[in-house]
Amino acid sequence: MHRPGIKTCMLIALSSGPLSHALAPKPRNPFDDQFYAPDDIITRDVAIIGGGSSGTYSAINLRALGKSVVVVEKTPRMGGPTSTYVDPQTGVPVNYGVQALYNISVATDYLDLLGVPMEPFHVLDPVTRVYADFHAGKNVSVSPSPGFAGYAEQLGKYPFLEYTWDLPKPVPEDLLLPFREFLAKYNLDDVAYSVYFSGPGYANILDQLTVNVFKLIDDSYLKSNSGSGMLPVSGNNGELYDKALDILGSDVLLSTTVVDTKRSYNNSGIRLVVQSGSKWKLIKASKLLITIPPLLSNLAPFDLDANERNLFSQWNYTNYYIMLVNNTGLPDGIQFANAVPSSADSFNIPNFPGPYQITSTRVPGLFYVWYASPYDATEAEVKADVVAIINRLRPTFGNSTIAGAPNFVEFRDRIPFKLVVSAEAIATGFYDKLGALQGRRNTWYTGAAFISHDASIIWHYTRSLLPGIVA
Ligand SMILES: Cc1cc2nc3c(=O)[nH]c(=O)nc-3n(C[C@H](O)[C@H](O)[C@H](O)COP(=O)(O)OP(=O)(O)OC[C@H]3O[C@@H](n4cnc5c(N)ncnc54)[C@H](O)[C@@H]3O)c2cc1C
Ligand SMILES: *[C@@H]1O[C@H](CO)[C@@H](O)[C@H](O)[C@H]1NC(C)=O
Ligand SMILES: *[C@@H]1O[C@H](CO)[C@@H](O)[C@H](O)[C@H]1NC(C)=O
Ligand SMILES: *[C@@H]1O[C@H](CO)[C@@H](O)[C@H](O)[C@H]1NC(C)=O
Ligand SMILES: *[C@@H]1O[C@H](CO)[C@@H](O)[C@H](O)[C@H]1NC(C)=O
Ligand SMILES: *[C@@H]1O[C@H](CO)[C@@H](O)[C@H](O)[C@H]1NC(C)=O
Ligand SMILES: *[C@@H]1O[C@H](CO)[C@@H](O)[C@H](O)[C@H]1NC(C)=O
Repeated sequence: MHRPGIKTCMLIALSSGPLSHALAPKPRNPFDDQFYAPDDIITRDVAIIGGGSSGTYSAINLRALGKSVVVVEKTPRMGGPTSTYVDPQTGVPVNYGVQALYNISVATDYLDLLGVPMEPFHVLDPVTRVYADFHAGKNVSVSPSPGFAGYAEQLGKYPFLEYTWDLPKPVPEDLLLPFREFLAKYNLDDVAYSVYFSGPGYANILDQLTVNVFKLIDDSYLKSNSGSGMLPVSGNNGELYDKALDILGSDVLLSTTVVDTKRSYNNSGIRLVVQSGSKWKLIKASKLLITIPPLLSNLAPFDLDANERNLFSQWNYTNYYIMLVNNTGLPDGIQFANAVPSSADSFNIPNFPGPYQITSTRVPGLFYVWYASPYDATEAEVKADVVAIINRLRPTFGNSTIAGAPNFVEFRDRIPFKLVVSAEAIATGFYDKLGALQGRRNTWYTGAAFISHDASIIWHYTRSLLPGIVA
């Protein structure tokens, strides 16, 4: 099964770099120590897969509890969607991914451990919002409800949703209504646009289950609107991951993927065969903590059993793209919010794929764009759509005689984003079954899909798993 893979890897390695960086042949018996140099055998208490929000939290806190760890991160950087661009001219940091954290003790304890001084959240890139029809390239009049009072009253019925998926049985039927029907049932049409704009990522949010909207625009979010958010004093959200990498050092394997796994090796924990840059390494650990999005495709190397396969086959998700653009010909100081003219059931919310917003930053001429698609879209397709939109906005709002096309300074995708399952799956105990995986087969799980799409809430959940992992 691995033979064809080796050839492909070797061809890629040989054709894309100097020979010294070519991937060595995969060990003939990749689980056998004798095929590795001593330095390429890594023995730890816990192997953590994914170095984003939850994986980094886990690594730092397990270390603090006296456990040895190794983090396997497939990209060349930690932090997942935490994305900060530092303007080379001025040194000004621009956060174009994660914006704010919640001021809850699990987050402040963690930031203390990392040594990142925090301050109350304030807008770093002040802008005036203009509602624009991105297809027509024209202004739209939108007056979203400034408050969430009616919404908060409904949300308040389900306090357990804040930090858990411990749903009552039977699951309250309002939670499983498509959000569009929920809005109609409680006459909350006036918050529809605010919820759409405040909780980007679900693409067509009106079709989303109400429980998933409540998981995103939750009580912590509503509180942070009135001042309980925070950010690093440096203004650079990437600082968390710079500090984490300093602390963890060689315990983080960047640009590394798991290729093969035995999760019960001779009754002595787990074995992972990883490809780290051009090398093969063998990880021996007592426990495995999986923090990556648990799609079957992502978990293929983890010898899933029927139960795991059944659960992980049920996810649906969106595709999300974040980028920085300059040479737009659009004026600084403006946030263009994507909207459509009002109609009976659109609530000014556009159809996706498309951008939520094109927002000016403190760096003159530099804008960030957040874009979602309910289905796969290539980088080229997304960029072409963004360019077409900016070209339509220029004549109305900016300088249509500006030379040249918009220029992409940064582009990152977050695929998959916002994993969800069907109403039927939730009604029949999907999240209980998911929770019951914890600790089975020496394996633990955390990350957004298991709890919520918010870093601070994910840390809260992850903290609750640590005693079991340490035991
Ligand atoms: C644009 C944007 C803005 C956001 N803003 C905020 C915000 O302001 N506040 C907030 O709290 N949350 C915010 N979020 C959400 C929050 O950041 C995520 O919910 C959180 O990062 C999820 O944590 P995680 O550990 O599950 O996944 P991630 O942080 O995405 O980490 C997963 C990691 O695993 C790696 N990986 C994936 N597959 C593999 C593999 N096969 N092998 C090895 N590694 C792999 C990824 O590269 C990534 O580093 C935002 C998200 C986005 C996209
Ligand atoms: C967090 O909140 C506490 C009070 O609840 C406050 O004293 C502290 O300054 C806040 N921290 C930040 C970084 O906002
Ligand atoms: C498995 O464990 C047994 C007994 O401890 C030992 O003899 C054997 O060599 C081990 N096998 C491997 C492949 O490590
Ligand atoms: C856009 O950013 C690039 C850096 O990626 C820079 O070289 C270029 O001068 C900028 N263009 C404009 C018009 O600001
Ligand atoms: C997944 O989401 C897409 C886009 O919203 C939708 O068309 C599709 O029916 C969904 N699939 C499942 C299995 O829910
Ligand atoms: C249209 O956009 C301009 C900014 O170019 C703004 O000044 C104006 O108020 C907008 N009009 C409406 C109706 O939103
Ligand atoms: C529009 O852009 C062109 C090309 O950069 C420039 O010459 C012109 O002065 C700009 N006009 C305005 C009104 O900014």
